[in-house]
Amino acid sequence: RPRQLVRAGLLGVAAALLTGCQSAQFLSMGDMASAYNREILWMSVPAIILSIIIFIGVSYALFYTVRKFREDRNDAPPAQFHGNNRLETVLVVVPMLLVMLLSVLTVRSLARLNPTPQNAVKVDVLGKQFWWNFSYPAAPAAAGGHVTNGNEMVIPTRSWVALTATSGDVIHAFWAPNLGGQRDATPGTQKTWQINTERPGVYQGNCNVLCGASHANMRFKVIALDPARYQSFLAAAQAYRAPTPATGSAEERGYTLFMQGKPATGALACAACHRVQGTPAAGAAGPDLSFFGTRQTLGAGMWEHERAREMLHEWIKHSPAVKPGSLMPPYDGSSYTVNGKVQKAGLLTDAEIDDLAAYLRSLRLPEEADYWRGVP
Ligand code: CUA
Repeated sequence: RPRQLVRAGLLGVAAALLTGCQSAQFLSMGDMASAYNREILWMSVPAIILSIIIFIGVSYALFYTVRKFREDRNDAPPAQFHGNNRLETVLVVVPMLLVMLLSVLTVRSLARLNPTPQNAVKVDVLGKQFWWNFSYPAAPAAAGGHVTNGNEMVIPTRSWVALTATSGDVIHAFWAPNLGGQRDATPGTQKTWQINTERPGVYQGNCNVLCGASHANMRFKVIALDPARYQSFLAAAQAYRAPTPATGSAEERGYTLFMQGKPATGALACAACHRVQGTPAAGAAGPDLSFFGTRQTLGAGMWEHERAREMLHEWIKHSPAVKPGSLMPPYDGSSYTVNGKVQKAGLLTDAEIDDLAAYLRSLRLPEEADYWRGVP
């Protein structure tokens, strides 16, 4: 029935709008908790209204013309005239004025959104195939250097966050629509813009430029915390030194494998590619693992929460088998391909992989700085 169809359609639209407003996990540029999105909306409304008026005007002119100048059955010659200066002036001047109005609105919004406020929170964004690093400025005169978290970005609410994006390989794009505009992460360039939200919560982000086999698996989370909780996260992260594992523990065996690999079987050291704050591991080829145990996602957002914990063993064992195009070498002795070159993976036993996993899980921020705690 047409009436039921219409009703179902309206309900669907209403549901979509409401979800967009209420669930931060739902990708939505219509999330009005972001001042960025509000600015874009209020810039778009006049443009949409103008478009509707123009559409009605042009449609009217079309039907009027078709009707008025339709074929005449009596064979009298039609009226002969040449041009209409007044009409032509209107047709040139009115669109010009409309375009000028739209330009003014656009430039006004650009001027409001583009300058980075002095007090904005700064986060450096690095995109690589197929993961993200989010870096925060080091504490003044801190020995620990920069603070970086892979694939999970923590920001304060009610504050502008100035992001500066770049890429380590090909072009990626940072896109967390609930928080603000999308920007490309382009190798060799640094692009700064700002995002924000007033509502604490977890926001979904994706890479938004096709960048290779696992483009769709290049996701991230943005966790927006009340400013006080954000400050406590940042302070703890800046002061963080990875814990020293107890002698004889699984974590200690994992630590040794992480730092040295297992040369006898060709297993590469994790530290060659990953950094862990407060340890000698300073690799930059892969995502930063300093707070790995606090994170709730794995494989750049491929798995979350319980599933991420379940997948950790598989992930270490043969990452390229569970994530297409992953550049992390497998540890199952198989052959794998990096940049067209076939290489033989090193070998770790399942027990050794569990030791590594235990070490990784021990890399936790202190309880009070756990940004996932009680997140709505
Ligand atoms: Cu990175 Cu698509």
